[in-house]
Amino acid sequence: MEIILQSDSLSANYIAARIIARQVRQKPESVLGFATGLTPLPLYQFLIKMHRNEGLDFSRVTAFNLDEYVGLDPAHPASYHSYMQDNLFAKINIDKHRTHIPDGLARDIPASCLAYEEKILAAGGIDIQVLGIGSDGHIGFNEPSSSLASRTRIKTLTVQTRKDNAGFFGGEDKVPHHVITMGLGTIMDCRMCLLLAFGKKKARAIAQAVEGPVTAMVPASILQMHPRAIVLVDEDAASELQRAFYYRWVYDNKPDWQKY
Ligand code: GLP
Repeated sequence: MEIILQSDSLSANYIAARIIARQVRQKPESVLGFATGLTPLPLYQFLIKMHRNEGLDFSRVTAFNLDEYVGLDPAHPASYHSYMQDNLFAKINIDKHRTHIPDGLARDIPASCLAYEEKILAAGGIDIQVLGIGSDGHIGFNEPSSSLASRTRIKTLTVQTRKDNAGFFGGEDKVPHHVITMGLGTIMDCRMCLLLAFGKKKARAIAQAVEGPVTAMVPASILQMHPRAIVLVDEDAASELQRAFYYRWVYDNKPDWQKY
């Protein structure tokens, strides 16, 4: 794992944006995996700015999102379809037909999950997957106890996650119980993972995911087994890391050819 510690979330998001921009410039037909939540919003703002000011071209990019709520109309303001449209897709030149988000209204959920996996494969796999982390250590919506080898499927949210996401719905009771999420095995198949985490609320999950044992009880800890996982954190999210000094030194002393 590469742990990049920044004094504030904006500079961490900017590094993530530069990594994605470089990928898209090197390979215009890149496959990008996107996440939702409050965490990656500044990253998407940077990508929109790069598109507008530097001509960063998304016209040949294919996108796959991590997850969606079951039973929620895509037009619902709290759906991840709406989120992606409002915060990124409508503001860059991505081809709508190349954007994919799990179908929360699918009649046959297992078949639709299988089809999602097949679409990722047919696109050649995901080059960079953006990830946030839940306060309980989940990535995507893979809650604690998720199989470390899981594929796209239906999951049930924990009480904690429903509380954490209540703000988007105007009350905890309105948050759906069920979701469709890429599995941990699906995420592990991508060629690079960019995990972003900011604020004190994420400090414990980050310490467990980065420095704790690999365990299904902290789903993000599976990223320790990924050959190219980058964790971008601010001071608060890094506050429970034992080896912060070391990570900072490593980043500050990278050889020029390794810099982002
Ligand atoms: C939800 C999403 C995750 C996201 C997490 C953290 O559970 N499914 O992909 O990482 O929320 O959200 P936030 O960034 O708002 O803290």
